[in-house]
Amino acid sequence: MSAITARDLSPAFGSEVFGLETCIPLDDDTIAALRKLFDERGLLVFRNTPLDIRFQTYLSELLIGNDVPDPDALTVKDNFLISNREPTGAAPYGRLLYHSDQMWSGKDRVDLISLYGREVGQPATPTMFVSAVEGWDSLPAALRAKVENRFAIQHYDSEVYRKRAAGDTDVLVSTYDTGEDFVTTPIGFTHPRTGKIILYVCQQTTQRIEGLSEEESDRLLDALFDHLYASDKELAHHWQEGDFIIWDNLSLQHARPNVVLDGPPRTLRKTIAPFPKSAIAGPKYASLAKG
Ligand SMILES: [Fe+2]
Repeated sequence: MSAITARDLSPAFGSEVFGLETCIPLDDDTIAALRKLFDERGLLVFRNTPLDIRFQTYLSELLIGNDVPDPDALTVKDNFLISNREPTGAAPYGRLLYHSDQMWSGKDRVDLISLYGREVGQPATPTMFVSAVEGWDSLPAALRAKVENRFAIQHYDSEVYRKRAAGDTDVLVSTYDTGEDFVTTPIGFTHPRTGKIILYVCQQTTQRIEGLSEEESDRLLDALFDHLYASDKELAHHWQEGDFIIWDNLSLQHARPNVVLDGPPRTLRKTIAPFPKSAIAGPKYASLAKG
């Protein structure tokens, strides 16, 4: 039997997990228990759990349902860092608006993200979460009627960042040279593994709602964002060094308040799953203050 136990971090999503032994391979009961908990709760938090990149990658693949018959053969990437210290660190400064990674991509869907706190000074900027499953389930009937069977256009540009930042010049603008143009996705998006419906629009990359005027689209998106990002629905992970968190990138959206380059060190080692088949070149960064 698996020895793990868990406690809820909020009514709708998130669990802190206790008792995980970070060994490879995990036994079948532990894998089954972790997969069930992950699909039910969307976010698993392991406090003070030192682990290496191989275990981090191994668990990332397991939790999206992939079997890993030969863990030694996993491709691992030790230098995928979110950091205000490391020279190659991603998102080195700024506030990040709510998003799911690569919602703008029609071909490289990211199902899962994990972060391990490699170097964390205090006070550390938290990572914030909301549940897009709960966001859909709790949509008021009148709002749901307006978006059911509608589609959203996903992309990114600085004008949308500017609009959504509402005057906050700390917001970090990330742009990727992927060759992909506008992507159309259903606003009620069916999760490919759990079958749950996700409210699939985000502050960072949803441009507009298809078939509406710009004014109508902005008004409807504002109403959806007010609902999805209501402060009583947010969950903050307050970082300590050695924390490991892993979440469903489709069910949940994440964001963070501002990070500054000369603030406390904040280096988080990241994985995404499935492991990307093709590397996307690192983004270009600008802040709205400069851009
Ligand atoms: Fe992200």
